[in-house]
Amino acid sequence: MVVGFVGSGSMAAAMARGWVGELDGMLFTDSGSGRAAELAREVGGEAVESNAALAEAADLIVLAVKPAILDEVAAELGSAKTVISLLGATPLERVAAALPDAEVVRVMPNVAVEVRRGVLCLAGAESTEARGALEVLGHVVELPDSEFDAATAVVGCAPAYLALAVEAIADAGAAAGLDPGLARELVVETTAGTAELLRLRHPAEVRKAVASPGGSTEAGLEALDREGVRGAFGVAVRASLERMRG
Ligand SMILES: NC(=O)c1ccc[n+]([C@@H]2O[C@H](COP(=O)([O-])OP(=O)(O)OC[C@H]3O[C@@H](n4cnc5c(N)ncnc54)[C@H](OP(=O)(O)O)[C@@H]3O)[C@@H](O)[C@H]2O)c1
Repeated sequence: MVVGFVGSGSMAAAMARGWVGELDGMLFTDSGSGRAAELAREVGGEAVESNAALAEAADLIVLAVKPAILDEVAAELGSAKTVISLLGATPLERVAAALPDAEVVRVMPNVAVEVRRGVLCLAGAESTEARGALEVLGHVVELPDSEFDAATAVVGCAPAYLALAVEAIADAGAAAGLDPGLARELVVETTAGTAELLRLRHPAEVRKAVASPGGSTEAGLEALDREGVRGAFGVAVRASLERMRG
């Protein structure tokens, strides 16, 4: 299967890197920045002259542009058969109306698709080929279109929130005397191991297992509560949702 990316930005790059070695080819366009050619070089694909030529040559199109230019781009994709839309805050119906002759699948991925450990929320057409390709990139969850905004605020945005937490803990470790590079390595590996554990155990159970009464972790958790960290994550998710809904 040949996949054509309309747009060669951050999310297109993450998906293309995750698909290296899995497809018959990858094609890319951009709006003139040169990112399509750069990405094509990196992943062993090809930059294409126009969106129309991309739609002619690809079996599956990934719409990876900003939502505001949907109509402009859709007008150039007349011959597309199956289209995966990554457009944030853009209902399936809206994309399907812009591309009336194509089967449209709505997908909300996160950047961890680059290492094939992404989460990909999916709604829309039952394209077995598209689903098979997406499953290579991580954990696929079918979701009603109406729940996509809420899922985006968690799935799409959370890698940035978790990265911030890792950075802050590592910085604190460095301030406590660890070499900064080592502090980051320790926190990253701790995060990876904790994520594995959290697949088996409830978060409250993990917290309880670490924080013995009167111990140092308990003191740390009490400090996080005093600083309002839990509430701050709630505020962050709501802020993302508000921005998304304009
Ligand atoms: N980033 C994420 O984590 C994430 C997560 C989930 C969903 N998404 C969704 O994915 C989509 C892309 O986001 P992004 O973060 O990858 O954006 P981005 O980095 O800004 O990339 C957008 C790409 O679209 C290209 N473009 C603009 N006009 C075009 C046109 N007429 N024809 C072809 N390409 C065109 C741009 O070209 P130039 O390179 O020439 O500027 C750029 O390569 C958005 O709808 C977003 O909601 C993103």
